[in-house]
Amino acid sequence: MGSPRWSRLCLVLLAALTSSLLLYGHYYAAVEAPGGQRLLASLLRPEPLLLAPVGAPSRPASRAWRQDGALEREKSLKSAPELLKPKRAKGQPSACSRSVVAQVEADPKFGQLFRFDVPVLMWDEHLSEGTWERLRARHVPYGWQGLSPAAVGGALRLLNTSSNRHLFDRAAFAGGCVRCAVVGNGGILNGSRQGRGIDAHDLVFRLNGAVIKGFEEDVGTKTSFYGFTVNTMKNSLIAYEEYGFTKVPQAKDLRYIFIPSDMRDYVMLKSAIEGSPVPEGLDKGDEPQKYFGPEASAKKFKLLHPDFLHYVTTRFLRSEIMDTQYSHLYMPSTGALMLLTALHTCDQVDAYGFITDNYEEFSDHYYEPEKKPLMFYANHDMMLEAELWKSLHQAGIMKLYQR
Ligand SMILES: *[C@@H]1O[C@H](CO)[C@@H](O)[C@H](O)[C@H]1NC(C)=O
Ligand SMILES: *[C@@H]1O[C@H](CO)[C@@H](O)[C@H](O)[C@H]1NC(C)=O
Repeated sequence: MGSPRWSRLCLVLLAALTSSLLLYGHYYAAVEAPGGQRLLASLLRPEPLLLAPVGAPSRPASRAWRQDGALEREKSLKSAPELLKPKRAKGQPSACSRSVVAQVEADPKFGQLFRFDVPVLMWDEHLSEGTWERLRARHVPYGWQGLSPAAVGGALRLLNTSSNRHLFDRAAFAGGCVRCAVVGNGGILNGSRQGRGIDAHDLVFRLNGAVIKGFEEDVGTKTSFYGFTVNTMKNSLIAYEEYGFTKVPQAKDLRYIFIPSDMRDYVMLKSAIEGSPVPEGLDKGDEPQKYFGPEASAKKFKLLHPDFLHYVTTRFLRSEIMDTQYSHLYMPSTGALMLLTALHTCDQVDAYGFITDNYEEFSDHYYEPEKKPLMFYANHDMMLEAELWKSLHQAGIMKLYQR
């Protein structure tokens, strides 16, 4: 822990903490690019998960429930000791040659890390005394510590449609192999001409400042999911307005994935479904239609489960920052959370615009007219994310677009 890199990170964190800029961490608390590569070994020591049974009668929202033996695994969620043993999903969709599940099963290290029975989404049935007791012990985004039960409950109660319980309806994909593209906003996509390939996927995930107009050839036009926190969405509208990100993507079949990183997300979600102005907090008076369009209803929205955020963070993106008193600042990036969501729900996953080894050759985002170096923020660990994408690619679990 005494490495120069680590001290530098600590210093920057301290600086960030003592400055009011912290509030705007996503934009201004930039950290110098860390030097050394971290050993993948850190990935291989997942801390024992403290996931207790999901409250209420729940179905795992991931692919697990559709497969043989799903019921067995669902039962296993109910006995705590079982939770410490990774269960592997059996079988795979026959139409998929190299499905995520099959590739994970075949890989010794990722086979130990992936758990396809952790619920990805949260909906009304998760609202229970047990869930409340458990989640209030963890701070956001991994829990509900300090949040108002009325506000959290108010949002959850509205997530009562079947569409809130799964990311997508498997029956709508006749082929039996759901292929997803997750499109980050990295400069590697500038001039990539990947648009057609991206749009050829069954489902396309985008996030934050996802500029499309003028970049169709490189990034495509299809958007099935837009992922964000209220903080990152609103910051993107400010920071990337000059590059053409003037509104959040809207379309009839588009679904929004809320990452509950703050009270604001629960409050905005509730108002969005009700179609009423935000009644309290930082976004008070905001009209959700401005972001999500006029026909927003419960089925337009998905909410990532705090247990899922806890699981992916502790197992896949356990940063050194989490061992310090600044751990509350850290969380995986929005892109990382979308990619991990896709990896736990889709049959095949291709990642575009995510950080690669040669990131220094590219601009921060694909839409900057002049090259800007990639920004590192004190609340994310981009080098750790880079290593994860690289090793998932090498294991054949997903394809990482590189050039
Ligand atoms: C969901 O909740 C809303 C608001 O309480 C209610 O009007 C609606 O009928 C419920 N829908 C279902 C499918 O239960
Ligand atoms: C994007 O690509 C174009 C053409 O390939 C190039 O001229 C431009 O400098 C690139 N922009 C950035 C920010 O790298």
